[in-house]
Amino acid sequence: MDDATRALITHAVNNQQQSTVTVLSSLLAVEDAIGYIPKEAVDSVADRMDATINDVWAVATFYPNFRFEPPTEHRIEVCWGPSCHVMGATAIIAAALQTLDLADEGDTPDGKATLRYNTCLGACAHAPVIAVDHHLAGRITPETARAKIVASLSADAHH
Ligand code: FES
Repeated sequence: MDDATRALITHAVNNQQQSTVTVLSSLLAVEDAIGYIPKEAVDSVADRMDATINDVWAVATFYPNFRFEPPTEHRIEVCWGPSCHVMGATAIIAAALQTLDLADEGDTPDGKATLRYNTCLGACAHAPVIAVDHHLAGRITPETARAKIVASLSADAHH
């Protein structure tokens, strides 16, 4: 871990604005700052909160949304909420899994992208919906989902 990341962790843990600082709020602050919870962050939160390392791990692993590995470059979210489900989310998920060479949500084998299922991306009127690198796309089809995912993965070549 580099010093800059270490500094971001310390800053996140020690500069929380809310009046009640908890183990969970501290972990969320770290996740917001660097996108995952490294071991160093667990140590730092334990220190700040006067908790044991085990207590902090217990909270961290209880919440399914924390990552323990650095984030990948691309994030693909497929909505499978009620509206999207009715409008064909199952086929969209299948297309996304196949395009990313995955059997379930998670990181791709090459570590470039992360697929997540979402219970509502907040655009139900446009179902089915996906978000590729935080850009929402509605009325998606398996073909357009595949095209958007491929486009985002190959966008790397330009920067
Ligand atoms: S259910 Fe998919 S965007 Fe709301």
